[in-house]
Amino acid sequence: MATTSKTTATKTSAAKTSAAKTTSSAKPAATPAKKSSSSTAKLSGLTGKMKDSEFHEFFVDEIKDIYWAEKHLVKALPKMKKAATSPELAAAFDKHTAETQVHIERLEQVFALLEEKPAAKKCDAMAGLLEEADGIIEDTDAGTMIRDAGLILGAQKVEHYEIATYGTLKTFAACMGHSEVEALLQLTLDEEKATDLALTEVAEAAINDAAVAE
Ligand SMILES: [Fe+2]
Ligand SMILES: [Fe+2]
Repeated sequence: MATTSKTTATKTSAAKTSAAKTTSSAKPAATPAKKSSSSTAKLSGLTGKMKDSEFHEFFVDEIKDIYWAEKHLVKALPKMKKAATSPELAAAFDKHTAETQVHIERLEQVFALLEEKPAAKKCDAMAGLLEEADGIIEDTDAGTMIRDAGLILGAQKVEHYEIATYGTLKTFAACMGHSEVEALLQLTLDEEKATDLALTEVAEAAINDAAVAE
């Protein structure tokens, strides 16, 4: 049973480096290392023109969408951890639950920088992906590596969705001159990518082979 996407399975050494970096740090920082003390002043130069623009509105709507996604993912990950058999996979879900909480906090910082109230707007894509993850748990037996392989499949679909979203949104932020927002989104993007690679490593270390043998 091939559960790992080819895209994520190729760069094993890069994955190790990246995952090691993330593993070594405790709770990820919610704020970029270099934080300007004059964010409001910087933003005030943008608000007049940018805040009324259709693109700004569209951008904020998409931030609301990923905010909903993260808030629901943070509740789903502990369920996925509970359903996992391999201690390595359970630990990966645990670690990403803590990171996802920080992703939510970073989005709240993004709303503040954009002078918008934090609000969630239903993300149909994440709702579907989480429904699919529930389905994997229902369709597989507890205590099997087939379930673990399936959970990795479901989780990597989620991570790829987040990678696509944050990758595009940070580019939008850069285009609009929201450099602090861009930096926050980049931090989260890096953690989503590291999680995806870490899941590939867990799958390839033993779970996929064990699932095939079951
Ligand atoms: Fe996230
Ligand atoms: Fe994630």
